[in-house]
Amino acid sequence: MGVDLSRIRPVLQRHERGDKTALVHALQDLQATYRYLPEEGVREVCAHLGVPLSKAFAVATFYKAFSLEPRGERICRVCLGTTCHIRGAPLLVEELERLLEVRAGGTTKDLSFTLETVNCVGACAMAPVVLVDGKYHDGVVPTDLPGIVGR
Ligand code: FES
Repeated sequence: MGVDLSRIRPVLQRHERGDKTALVHALQDLQATYRYLPEEGVREVCAHLGVPLSKAFAVATFYKAFSLEPRGERICRVCLGTTCHIRGAPLLVEELERLLEVRAGGTTKDLSFTLETVNCVGACAMAPVVLVDGKYHDGVVPTDLPGIVGR
């Protein structure tokens, strides 16, 4: 499935042609537009800034904030740090995989959700913790999940 390239033009317009120093900002802009870095978009950004494609992909793989795979409209993260793990987080992952019909680390076919596991998010006293679009849900049990993700 191709991406809508018309949305790249505004990204390019915000960064001066040939400004190699703008690479990270331009990629951030591209990711904000598409929620990931489509290859066609990365190629356009590189051509615009005069940066080799290999450099852009090196940057994109170095920074965890960038994704080269399509991401869901909503990001659901389950903490699998030690405390959350002990308090049942693996069961939450299993239940979310069932509800969302996607494996942890993946994105639903309709691009509505990306399901991720993360290490301690610094809220151990509230374990187990699930974050949806950055909002913390604490003391979560599997039966809470349909209400949290709306499925
Ligand atoms: S282990 Fe989950 S918040 Fe610390």
